[in-house]
Amino acid sequence: MIVKSWKFTGFKATFPDWVQENSSKRKGSKFLWVHTQTGEVPAEEGMYIAINLRGHVDVYDFKPEGWIKEIRNRNSLRNPNRSTASVYARMVNKQFAKHCYDQYQMNHKGYHGFQHWARVFQNGRHIAQAENANTKVVDLFALLHDTQRKNESRDPQHGYRAAKYAHSIRGKWFDLSNKDMRLLDEALTYHSDGYTDADITVQTCWDADRLDLGRVGIQPSPKKLCTQTAKNAINNYCSTDPRLWPASTSYN
Ligand SMILES: [Fe+2]
Repeated sequence: MIVKSWKFTGFKATFPDWVQENSSKRKGSKFLWVHTQTGEVPAEEGMYIAINLRGHVDVYDFKPEGWIKEIRNRNSLRNPNRSTASVYARMVNKQFAKHCYDQYQMNHKGYHGFQHWARVFQNGRHIAQAENANTKVVDLFALLHDTQRKNESRDPQHGYRAAKYAHSIRGKWFDLSNKDMRLLDEALTYHSDGYTDADITVQTCWDADRLDLGRVGIQPSPKKLCTQTAKNAINNYCSTDPRLWPASTSYN
C-alpha cells in the first residue's frame, strides 16, 4: 500500500524528509539514487519516489497510488507474456529498456529482438521469484544478453560482447556490487554455450532465455534446463504455438 509519493524534479527541489533519508546524490550523476529493498535504483527527473506502509521506498515512472504496485505485479505474474518493463520501474526501467533497444543492430522483429527480451524478462521474473535468485541481475541479463548480436544464426561471441558492454555502462545505467557483476558477467558471457552448472542466479538467466526457444520451433529439453522451476514451466510456456503468443511491450 503506497502511503506517500513525491515527484523528483531535480536537485534544486525541496526534498521531503523520508526521501532524504532513503536516497543519495552521487558526484557527476544526474540521477537521484534511491535505496530500495533490492538495492540502489536511479531515479531520473520526472520519476516518482514512493513509500509504502512497511516504510520501503521504490521508484516509479508513473504516479503510484494505493495498492497499484501490488495489483500490477500480480497481474504481470499471471500473464507471462506481458512485460513489466514499461509498467514498473525498478532496477530496469523504461529508459534503460529503450537504451538497450537502441543498441541492437538488427531488426527487432527478428528472433533475437525486443519481443524475445521481454519474454526472457518475464520468464526470469517468474523463475527468480521461485528460486530466490537475484532479480536485479536477471532483469539486466534479459535486456542485455542479445543486444550485441550481429546475426540471427551463429554468433558465438555475442555473449562475450554483451558482458563487455555491460561493464562499459555499469555505474552509468545501472549499479551492481562486484559480486553481482561477476554473476551478470558469467550469465552473459556463457549464455549460449549450453552450460547448466552455475550459481542459481546465473542458472535463472540461462533458463529464462532457453524457455523462449519455442519461438524458433525448438521445444526446450528439461535436460538442457538448469532449474526445477523452468523444467516445470516447459508445458506452460511452450505447449502453445509460439506464433500465437501475444506481442509483449514495444517501444515506438
Ligand atoms: Fe536470447
